[in-house]
Amino acid sequence: MLARRRLPGPIFDYLDGGSDDERSLARNASAFADYEIIPDVLTDVSSIQTATTLFGQPAAWPLMLSATGLTRMFHGSAEPAVARAAAAQAIPYCLSTMGTTRLEDLTSAVRVPALFQIYVFKDRGLTREFVARCRDAGYAGLCLTVDTPVAGNRLRDHRSGLSLPPRLTMRSLLDFALHPGWSIPALTGARFDLANVSHRTEALADTPMSLFDFIGRQFDSSLTWRDVEWLAAEWNGPLAIKGLMTPQDAARAVASGASGVIISNHGGRQLDGAPAPIDQVAAVRDALGDGPDVICDGGVRHGSDIVKALALGATACSIGRPYLYGLAAAGEAGVARVLTLLRGQFERTLALAGVPSIKTLNRRHIRHRPQ
Ligand code: GLV
Repeated sequence: MLARRRLPGPIFDYLDGGSDDERSLARNASAFADYEIIPDVLTDVSSIQTATTLFGQPAAWPLMLSATGLTRMFHGSAEPAVARAAAAQAIPYCLSTMGTTRLEDLTSAVRVPALFQIYVFKDRGLTREFVARCRDAGYAGLCLTVDTPVAGNRLRDHRSGLSLPPRLTMRSLLDFALHPGWSIPALTGARFDLANVSHRTEALADTPMSLFDFIGRQFDSSLTWRDVEWLAAEWNGPLAIKGLMTPQDAARAVASGASGVIISNHGGRQLDGAPAPIDQVAAVRDALGDGPDVICDGGVRHGSDIVKALALGATACSIGRPYLYGLAAAGEAGVARVLTLLRGQFERTLALAGVPSIKTLNRRHIRHRPQ
C-alpha cells in the first residue's frame, strides 16, 4: 500500500491503527460482507439518480468525509486538499476540532458544504467560541463527538511514542530517517499545530505533549444529554451526534435537539468490542422514522458498502481512513482517486442491482447472511 510506504511507521500506525485488540476496527469492515444485495432486473438503469441532502445541504451522492485529527501529519497539503477533493465531488467535508487548519481558513479557501466536528470541552467557553466562529465562517452543520469520554487505548501509538509534534524517539528515529520524502517537508513545512485550539492551550508546538494527555485534560468525562441540549440551543442549526450505537441513544439524540446521528465507534479507535455501525443502521432508522439524517461511519471500503447501508435505512455513509490513505499516498490527487473509485463502484453496484434511484433502495434489496 502506497500510504504505508510513504509514511514513517509511527505516523502510518496512528492512521491505520485502532484500540486494544483492534477487533472493532476489523469488524467494521468485515461486517459488510455478511450482507447480500438482492437485485431487480430489467428496470432501466440507463441513468442512475444518486443526489441527496445531508445536513440540509445538497450532496451529489450519499457520502461525506468525516473528521480526522492531525491531517497535516499525513500530507503537507492537509485539510484544504481533502476539502477540495470533496468539493469536486459535491459532497460534504467535516473539519476536526483536532485538525491542523483553522476553521476560518478552510471555508475561505474552499467552497464545500463544510461541517465542523466539535467537542463539549471542560471549558464550555471554548465550545461556545467554536459555535460562534463556525456561525461566522458559514459552517453548514456541527457534529458533536460523544464516544470519547476518555482516550481509547491505542496500543500502536503507545509503542511508537507518537506525540505532538512527532517526537524523534530512538525507536522511531530510524523510521523517520528512512522516509525522507515525508520527513524533510514535515520538518521544514508548516508546524504541526492543533490550529483551532492551540491559542487556548499551552504552547503545544514547543512542548512535546502526547495527544492522550491533551485529551485527558480537555475532554469532559462528566458529559450527559443535558450538554447536548445546551449545545443544540447554542448552535440552533443542523447538528449530528457522532459516536452512538443504539436506537435508544439515537432517539434521545433527536429528542435533545439533534437533526441527525452518526452511527460510529470512532473507526474502532475508542471502545474495542463495540458493534459494527452497519449492523446498527436498521434499528436506528426504525427508531427515528423518516426525517433525521442517519449516517453510517466506519468500515466503508467499497461502493457496494454504501448501497448496503442505504438499503438498511442510512441517509449516507462517511469515511475517514480511506481518504487519508489517498492523501498520504498522493495528496489531493490521491483523495480524488479514492473518491472516484468509490463513486464508480457505488454507481455500478446500483446499476447491477437494478436500482435507478437511491430513493427506491430499500430493505427488499438486502439480506443478512453471516458467513
Ligand atoms: C482522533 O479523534 C483520533 O481518533 O485519532
